[in-house]
Amino acid sequence: MSSTSELQHPDLGPDRANACRMYDHLIGGGQAPLSEHDQAALKRLLEVAPGTPYVARDNRAFMRRVTRYLAETAKVRQFLDLGCGYPTERNLHDIAREHVPDARVVYVDREEDAVAEYLRLLSGDPNATAVAAAIETPEKVLADERVNRVIDFGEPVAVLATGVFPFIPDSADPRGIVAAYRDACVPGSYLAISHALTAEYWEAGLADVVLDLYRTAVQAMYPRRLEEVAALFEGYTMVEPGLVSTPTWRPDEPLAPEQTMHVRAVAGLGVLEAADGRA
Ligand SMILES: C[S@@+](CC[C@H](N)C(=O)[O-])C[C@H]1O[C@@H](n2cnc3c(N)ncnc32)[C@H](O)[C@@H]1O
Repeated sequence: MSSTSELQHPDLGPDRANACRMYDHLIGGGQAPLSEHDQAALKRLLEVAPGTPYVARDNRAFMRRVTRYLAETAKVRQFLDLGCGYPTERNLHDIAREHVPDARVVYVDREEDAVAEYLRLLSGDPNATAVAAAIETPEKVLADERVNRVIDFGEPVAVLATGVFPFIPDSADPRGIVAAYRDACVPGSYLAISHALTAEYWEAGLADVVLDLYRTAVQAMYPRRLEEVAALFEGYTMVEPGLVSTPTWRPDEPLAPEQTMHVRAVAGLGVLEAADGRA
């Protein structure tokens, strides 16, 4: 669907570190081969912000918990994972299928190597696929034949966007992007988002250093204020506990002190209700 040039971003290239591969490393994934630039940026990141792996793992853990909630409790059967990253134990389709064995899953990421890994993993699976696309072209993603072969937009769909909107600048209209996916979904559909917060939620001075590192050596990031993240859920009714610091969204177990120390992000889940209030 997308030509390579459409997927290219000024901050993506062989002379910079790659945020997708770095994230895979931070969560302990180990699927992405690291370049020299990735290694240098990771080294610097861990020096200036040693809590970053906790933040990254908390984000991934939210993806797993919210997927389980969606499949087990909300009985959602279809999933569209925007900005999926590299496959990592355990993947969205593995978790969803524990509860919904025939769950249908489409993974989308701009990172073609990550998508290629998913395609290898999903080879021969008629109910799941991966597509290389930029999420800010929802009209293309939603019209894509491979997406529509797996997902029936006449039935509820859970759209997940965990950790991806911090890479979308305001100039690309994040609210408009979310609204385009929302408008393609029927009542009973869900939206899950996790998102980095602005500097006032970080340890003093840390955000400037980390954001400067990303801007100069990796890819610019756009943390948002709590109310800006909340605005992405326009049209959705928040599921309890609402938009909260990522590790505190329906945790499986009591939180370790380091999980609450390094919170720089929030997460939430919304449901699209019918006009009469029924999901
Ligand atoms: C922090 S990772 C999150 C991965 C996964 N969603 C998770 O929560 O574990 C962000 C991912 O978004 C992808 N990404 C960033 N900007 C994107 C865009 N405009 N379109 C599609 N994918 C994008 C990156 O390649 C990366 O894989």
